[in-house]
Amino acid sequence: MNEGLQMRPDLTEEEIKAAVIETFTAKAIESDECFPYCFSLHCARGTIPEAEAIGYMREDLEQIPDEVLMGLGCGNPLVGITIKPGDTVVDLGSGSGIDVFLASKKVGEQGKVIGIDMTEEMVQKATKTAAHYGYDNVEFHVAEIEDLPIDNCTADVVISNCSVNLSLDKPRVFNEAFRALKPGGVLGLADVVVTRELSEETKNSIDAWTSCFAGALLKQEYLDTIIRAGFENVEIVAEREFNDGNSSERVRSIIVRAQKPAN
Ligand SMILES: C[S@@+](CC[C@H](N)C(=O)[O-])C[C@H]1O[C@@H](n2cnc3c(N)ncnc32)[C@H](O)[C@@H]1O
Repeated sequence: MNEGLQMRPDLTEEEIKAAVIETFTAKAIESDECFPYCFSLHCARGTIPEAEAIGYMREDLEQIPDEVLMGLGCGNPLVGITIKPGDTVVDLGSGSGIDVFLASKKVGEQGKVIGIDMTEEMVQKATKTAAHYGYDNVEFHVAEIEDLPIDNCTADVVISNCSVNLSLDKPRVFNEAFRALKPGGVLGLADVVVTRELSEETKNSIDAWTSCFAGALLKQEYLDTIIRAGFENVEIVAEREFNDGNSSERVRSIIVRAQKPAN
């Protein structure tokens, strides 16, 4: 995806957002060409070994539709999170729904998992997958993660995988996650951060944006932004190199846990 950074001097927010939607629209359409019954490898451009390599368990992946494996995540945001039957889970930037379908197994019939994504084709793809495989406890909505269509204090868990880095207003995303969570609710993130400032060239590269690292915050800034939104017990529970693009030595994939105070 990231072959050669196209330098764009004055990249505007509108250009970045349009490029993100265009990129993920193309990926959704491309992966949909073999829907349904795509039991072959690379059907959705991702594979179980690739997903295992970033932290998923094979036995979990084997329980969800092949179509959701698109290789778009940067970790497993569900690692170590207790999701109980009956819980409500919200996934920010849900894409084809890999984490929604995994969480669906945990919340059971009484629970609900809600995927939010601004790319209509991703939402359509995920909705079609859910209908085809009979997942009644999941729903997907076209919306921005900076403005969630979720009532206050209704989610037990909010997760997000490789999507907050693409947001142009990350404080607002974390404020929205905080608003949506019940007191005591848990935030689980897989995302990309950087360990030193990226060059202006990279920050102004459309390819670097759509490859999920031009928009990455410095690691401490990322954690501070979560804390400023009101979360407590903010911690990185796993970290590894993010092997995408030319800047892997300064780009890290992290798994973060945080909690909305119980009172
Ligand atoms: C890298 S993909 C990850 C998809 C999915 N979470 C996964 O792990 O497979 C990022 C997704 O976030 C969505 N996205 C990016 N920025 C968004 C925003 N501001 N609001 C809603 N969705 C957004 C994109 O449309 C895309 O589907």
